[in-house]
Amino acid sequence: MNFKIAVLPGDGIGPEISKQGVDVMTAVCEKFGHTVNYEYAICGADAIDKVGNPFPHETFELCRQSDAVLFSAVGDPKFDQDPTAKVRPEQGLLAMRKQLGLYANIRPVQTFKCLLHKSPLRAELVEGADFICIRELTGGMYFGEKYQDDEKAYDTNFYSRPEIERILKVGFEYAMKRRKHLTVVDKANVLASSRLWRQIAQEMAASYPEVTTDYMYVDNAAMRMIQEPTFFDVLVTENTFGDILTDEGSCISGSMGLLPSASTGESTPVFEPIHGSWPQAKGLNIANPLAQILSVAMLFEYFDLKKEGALIREAVEASLDACVRTPEIQVEGGKKYGTKEVGHWIVEYIRTH
Ligand code: IPM
Ligand code: MG
Repeated sequence: MNFKIAVLPGDGIGPEISKQGVDVMTAVCEKFGHTVNYEYAICGADAIDKVGNPFPHETFELCRQSDAVLFSAVGDPKFDQDPTAKVRPEQGLLAMRKQLGLYANIRPVQTFKCLLHKSPLRAELVEGADFICIRELTGGMYFGEKYQDDEKAYDTNFYSRPEIERILKVGFEYAMKRRKHLTVVDKANVLASSRLWRQIAQEMAASYPEVTTDYMYVDNAAMRMIQEPTFFDVLVTENTFGDILTDEGSCISGSMGLLPSASTGESTPVFEPIHGSWPQAKGLNIANPLAQILSVAMLFEYFDLKKEGALIREAVEASLDACVRTPEIQVEGGKKYGTKEVGHWIVEYIRTH
């Protein structure tokens, strides 16, 4: 394949991990005979500082014309202290999702055997946990009508039938490819929008008789995720619930720095780590590049290049087994590897296997 990749390093640790993702992608392309061209674009706080807009039109055009976007992170604490700030880096992320029609956010939660002891949950609870959260990404409260003055404020949790159907379809199809268990997460005991979700899910379930579909209130799902994470196979939910549950899910593996994601929909897909920009670590060469590197695996898999994806996953597991790890997951007394060193080790592994 001849890849055209838009690279959006963004803020904080973004540029450092982005570089490792790009190097891994290049190594895999060389190995399997693909060609790849990268074009870089600005977003987030970096773009606000440079052009006053966190997702400039040129960045959008580049993304639209590329085969995939390799995204890293946006966010800068200088915007967090001011709730009245008119532009914020996160708006760039939301604009990207909306403008590219990225309605399906796929966030796999996977555990690594050698890191089970790093989980905040007891190892015996997390062992074998392997599920995918499918989060609706372009609707709900994030994008519904909003109002704010000094006395009152609201956000509207609007969902239309086509928006619900298309994301549930993604959920059912993932379930078909996996262990055929779909959990539809909602708050149908309270919210009208959730009742419509549940109604449509029940209609659609009839077309997927092989899938065991269950319905769970979001509060219960949040509890179940820490009580029995192995219960889940594929979870599908609306934007806001998905935001919350995927942060909860991400820490199960022991480090947020391990989990990749894909956002797909109407236009170019985006692959990104689920952690944020970790501004305090910027430039220190301590950020874990594995989530970004695994995002590259998801990129190849999206294009049905399974061997390419599998080699990256193998290299990542090998680096963990060899204790070539960044500080937050290193064994006690073990050498602490930097972002670059972990990346280089994985590139070398790919070249030689
Ligand atoms: C995420 C993030 C974003 C979200 C923020 C940065 C706007 O938390 O991707 O989960 O809320 O969607
Ligand atoms: Mg979030």
